[in-house]
Formats: sequence, C-alpha cells, structure tokens
Amino acid sequence: GGTTGGGATSGGYPDQNITFVVPFSAGGPTDTVTRMLAEPMAAKLGGKVVVQNVEGAGGTVGAGEVARADPDGYTVLMHHIGMSTAPALYQNLGYKPLEDFEMVGLVTEVPMTVVARKDFAPATLKDLVTHVKANADKVTLANAGIGAASHLCGLLFQSAAGVKLQEVPYEGTGPALTDLVGGQVDFMCDQTTNTSGQISAGEVKAYAVTTPERVKSLPDVPTTAEAGLPQLQVSVWHGLYVPKGTPQEVVQKLSEALKTALADQKVIDQMAKLGTAPVTAENATPQAHRAKLEEQLGTWAKVIADAGVKAS
Ligand code: MLT
Repeated sequence: GGTTGGGATSGGYPDQNITFVVPFSAGGPTDTVTRMLAEPMAAKLGGKVVVQNVEGAGGTVGAGEVARADPDGYTVLMHHIGMSTAPALYQNLGYKPLEDFEMVGLVTEVPMTVVARKDFAPATLKDLVTHVKANADKVTLANAGIGAASHLCGLLFQSAAGVKLQEVPYEGTGPALTDLVGGQVDFMCDQTTNTSGQISAGEVKAYAVTTPERVKSLPDVPTTAEAGLPQLQVSVWHGLYVPKGTPQEVVQKLSEALKTALADQKVIDQMAKLGTAPVTAENATPQAHRAKLEEQLGTWAKVIADAGVKAS
C-alpha cells in the first residue's frame, strides 16, 4: 500500500549501508575517484558508504551486477567512458546502458597520459610511434581489459600510429601501473588520477597528455598535439548509476549528495592534485548524465567501427 510522510522507504533512505561498486581493481583511477567521494556523500546522506571492487572484463562484470541489483538505492555504480564503449565491444553485454540504469549524475572528466616504463628506449611520442611500428611483435601495451578507458585510449593510439600491438589486460590500471614501474610491461595509456604520482616521482616516463591543453599538475608533459599525434584526444568522463526502477526521490538524494561532495574543498583539492576537477553542479544531475551517455554511445560506436574493431 501507499506510504505516508513522503514515502517511508525513500523518506527513511538511507537506513542501511550503501555499497558503491567500482568495476575495477582497488588502487586504480576509478577506485580513487570513488573513495574520494564516499565519505562526503555518506555525510550528506546521513548513512555509511562501503566501496566494493567487482573486477573483470573491462568493467562490464561490475556494471552487470549493478544492473541486476535491487533498485533500492543501496547499490550504486561508479563507471566511466567504458559505459559508452562496451556495447560496441561486447556481443553479449548482459545490460543496456540507457535502459537498465538510472543515471544519478556526472562526476569528473579525467585526462589520460601516455606513459612507459622508465628505461623504455623511445624518448618522445614521435619516437614511440616509430619504435612500435618497427617492433610491433615485441612491444607490450597494458590496459584494464576490453572496454576499459585504457583499452579505448590504446585503441586510438594504435589507430593513429597505424599499428596493432600485443595488449596485456589487467583487472585495473592500478596493478598495471605496478608492472609498468617494475618494467614488466612496456607502456600504457592511463588516467592522471593514477599516473600523476609515478610521473612526478620519475618512476615512469610520460610522453603526453591526451587533452587539448596541458594538465596544470603535470606542466612538463606536452599535449599529444604538441608531441605530433593530435588525433589522440580522449578524456575519461565518470558518472554514478543505480539500477533501473530505483525511486526518483532516492536518485535525487544521491544526486544532491554527489553535488555536495563535488563542492567539498578537500575533494576539489585532491582532484586538482591528480590532474582533474569536479563537473559543475548542473552536470551532476540525472538529465545531464543521460544526455552525455546518449551522445557518447553514438560517438564511440562510430569511432570503434571506423577503427575496424568488431564486438567479440
Ligand atoms: C580504465 O582503464 O578503465 C581504468 O583506469 C581502470 C581502473 O580504474 O583501474
């Protein structure tokens, strides 16, 4: 039957822990952004947020689990550009981004960096392109699985360089970066929220950032345009999702809590240190998020098809 007082369920929401699902390994960029927001969002919601990593298949395992979770507001997904590339990359995805989720709001848009193990021979991005073309069968390119942002950036790099490389998939770019620092893999394209520390510490070599402007916190890293590969442009937008059917009052409460967290000076400062920034309040809304996802689904389907990549 009906409830009184503004809806007992959503009026009392939250009355138990809220799980934020990160579809990649702990310690990677998606995990980092989520853990930054968990505490300020929990404070605003008046509840507790627990972050759970559900890895696999470029983020599609975790996304699928949230699509099938109870639509009660207690399971939330943090996901990124991979929500808009997966339909073009997986024949049996198991969820439809626009139909199986409610969008809560956009979070941040993160630049990417082309980085290599510090003793890798190529000195510049142009040298890297020359080197990989001459050594395509030996060079290894790390990513976080098909559908990851690092996979997409790697695909764009290979298209721009006109080369097909051996890809080494990880459950997240946290572990991938560990292997890069250890020299076990040659290079990768990964978000500044993960690579900034190792670049500044000189533990990896940074060839370029994939944004039109340089990243303030990485002033010495040229843009891909400056470095001679202008077509390599991509930045990783992130959004929060709940299962389709979650009550609108709950979606609104989550969106309000997201806006509050994105206005938190600690979050703003932490994001700035890692080369990114919160989206504006009007973009931290379900409407803006849905519009972004609709546009990105179309954009990447075309780019992936034009790159000759078929869904598998
Ligand atoms: C990606 O490449 O999609 C992310 O960097 C993966 C992660 O957050 O670990």
